[in-house]
Amino acid sequence: MDSILVRGNGALSGEIPIAGAKNACLTLMPATLLSEEPLTLTNAPRLSDIKTMSTLLRSLGAEVVSLQDGGVLAMSSHDLTSTWADYDIVRKMRASNLVLGPLLARMGHAEVSLPGGCAIGARPMDLHIHGLEALGAEIELKDGYLLAKAPKGLKGAEIALRFASVGATENIVMAAALARGTTVLTNAAREPEIVDLVKCLRQMGAQIQGEGTERIEIQGVDRLHGATHEVVADRIELGTYMLAPAIAGGEVECIGGRLDLLGAFVEKLDEAGVAVEQTNRGVKVSRKNGRVKAVDVTTAVFPGFPTDLQAQMMALMCTAEGVSELHETIFENRFMHAPELVRMGADIEVHGGTATVTGVKKLKGAPVMATDLRASVSLILAAMAAEGETRVARVYHLDRGYEQLEKKLMGVGAEIERISGE
Ligand code: UD1
Repeated sequence: MDSILVRGNGALSGEIPIAGAKNACLTLMPATLLSEEPLTLTNAPRLSDIKTMSTLLRSLGAEVVSLQDGGVLAMSSHDLTSTWADYDIVRKMRASNLVLGPLLARMGHAEVSLPGGCAIGARPMDLHIHGLEALGAEIELKDGYLLAKAPKGLKGAEIALRFASVGATENIVMAAALARGTTVLTNAAREPEIVDLVKCLRQMGAQIQGEGTERIEIQGVDRLHGATHEVVADRIELGTYMLAPAIAGGEVECIGGRLDLLGAFVEKLDEAGVAVEQTNRGVKVSRKNGRVKAVDVTTAVFPGFPTDLQAQMMALMCTAEGVSELHETIFENRFMHAPELVRMGADIEVHGGTATVTGVKKLKGAPVMATDLRASVSLILAAMAAEGETRVARVYHLDRGYEQLEKKLMGVGAEIERISGE
């Protein structure tokens, strides 16, 4: 297994290009299942999760051709041959469950494995199931698979989500796009990835209003046609790289970044004393004098502070002046990076969903272990400002969500290298 070696190397300077959003791409790809005509995505990120989704779509009979080294995905679901999403693929990535809504709507049935346990929490699917049942689906759980069918087709309904789940909103919107009549979804998730999905579906001929608000209205249509869509910029990759100069010092411009995608995250950086500015090429971030100030953070649905940036923010707080409290409200077990940061000299106490971080002047390099995607990158960020050398083991998680991470960070002056096979 590969590991990554990082040596603290002082202030950063330069530019980092921001890729297309992984999480947007993972919901846009299954949208191909809704139409017989081709769907092409541009600005696709080159990530292993995207390869996993390609494998899943191909297993259903879709064609997925990766062009321009993976930056363009040309897909066609003209001849679907299967509605079975196998455990062997689904267990690798929870987002595989996003084929459920589209398959059900287009084919009238779908058999999708439950994703199983995930390192950061239970992540059930009850909201997806209730929403699709409200649209007329009959769903039973058998041998670890959700067996869903809609013998009379799907029919528009009023659905109120108990919690604004991103995945459930996506599955329900895709299914409702081909249902008969009108669906009104309330307490819908408002994340930018949902706005991007709706933009694409609308180009395919869907009739949807209200994306980006908590009430989405969908008038079902008989069929959707082909489209070409550019994947929105990755706000989590952006937030991660904005934290690099905040942690290590210096100034970095994240090319293609958009502050409007980041909600409360930007306010928190400002509060901490990090300078952030939208330029016409992207987002410029700098920290030039002294330590940042400790700030309290509570994760929440968009536009609140994203749970996917909590670990990276904790890395910043490790060397802040003062004490900060980080409250994780979205996932119940998302502090696995804390003991690893402690190995590097951080002062962190975790009690249930709250981590109290008392800033120290300097972290020290240490061998650490990556436990999930965002936890891994938080260790790399912390290592960039630590004294000495840090070796981050089990970095395969990183390749799921960060395209060319070492290259991008080396480009702004970080000392980082991948050691293969250890
Ligand atoms: C998506 C993102 C993930 C991000 C998360 C929250 C993708 C591919 N992944 O995941 O990176 O961290 O949003 O912003 O887009 N829940 C239920 N029942 C359900 C569904 C969810 O209780 O049926 C709970 C989950 O256990 C979790 C919370 O809702 O505690 C948030 O989950 P959800 O918004 O669905 O996240 P995902 O779509 O899985």
